[in-house]
Amino acid sequence: MPPKILVTGAAGQIGAELVPALRLRYGNAQVVAAVHKAPGAEALRAGPTVTLDVVDEEAISKAVRDHGVDTIYHLAALLSAVGEDKPDLAWEVNMKGLKSVLDVARRSGVKRVFWPSSIAVFGPNAPRTMTPQNASLIPTTIYGVSKVSGELLCNYYFLKYGLDVRSLRYPGLISSEAPPGGGTTDYAVEIFYAALEKGAYTCFLRKETALPMMYMPDALDATISIMETDVARVKLHGGYNLSAMSFSAEELAAEIGKHVKGFSVSYAPDRRQKIADSWPMSVDDSEARKDWGWSPKYGLPRMTEDMLSRLGRRLKPQKDV
Ligand code: SER
Repeated sequence: MPPKILVTGAAGQIGAELVPALRLRYGNAQVVAAVHKAPGAEALRAGPTVTLDVVDEEAISKAVRDHGVDTIYHLAALLSAVGEDKPDLAWEVNMKGLKSVLDVARRSGVKRVFWPSSIAVFGPNAPRTMTPQNASLIPTTIYGVSKVSGELLCNYYFLKYGLDVRSLRYPGLISSEAPPGGGTTDYAVEIFYAALEKGAYTCFLRKETALPMMYMPDALDATISIMETDVARVKLHGGYNLSAMSFSAEELAAEIGKHVKGFSVSYAPDRRQKIADSWPMSVDDSEARKDWGWSPKYGLPRMTEDMLSRLGRRLKPQKDV
């Protein structure tokens, strides 16, 4: 029997692509897309949709009951930069949302929960390169604090209630479909639109700022793969380090410049620089590789080519790119 899935944050950067990927895999009717505000993207209506606020436990419970849900992908959250502007809201949505989902899951017999963690669990005192799985977790953003607390809560629910929660520490995610919103790694998506639409971009991070990144197809593969892995192989129920590529803003600009003639980038670091400076430049994901066979397909050149060709087709339908 395919799983019956509820995806919160279905209209967000990950959800907008994960929902179609899950529907392709398990069938449209198997995946309920939960959005915060109706109506949500047109594409989400290829299968069942519900409107709910993730801090409303009763609304989550109703969606689970109404649709016979046995698996939840709980994606709804505030990202790092917007979190620093609204720390109270970030805590409320990220923590109360997660606790509500976990409580509904354990009471309703939901079998498995996915929850995204982040490289933001690390802070400035962790090693900055090839940051190990078990490096110290003392983040300096409220987003990171909510991710560390969330990891601990997920692990606690596994130990206390036997709830099978699985989690990945995503790097910055780059996607050609839905834009991210309010993150520190958003520049790595914005830069592609700017290159194609204007031939110029002003980056909000310094040029030498390097961060771990991943192309969305790899993130979807990792997510579905850890959720389908036999429970005996999942050794961590907090959050697995996950890695694909790492580059500086300047290296990404140069790679795009190989395809977009005359592309020029200037740098005007803003408040997000401090957040980026507190995060790893690269992470060591050997536990994910060992435990459930993780391996990414996209590095910087291949991701860049694919982004430019997909966005090029969408942004300039008249021209060949
Ligand atoms: N991409 C996220 C952000 O920038 C990190 O998980 O906030």
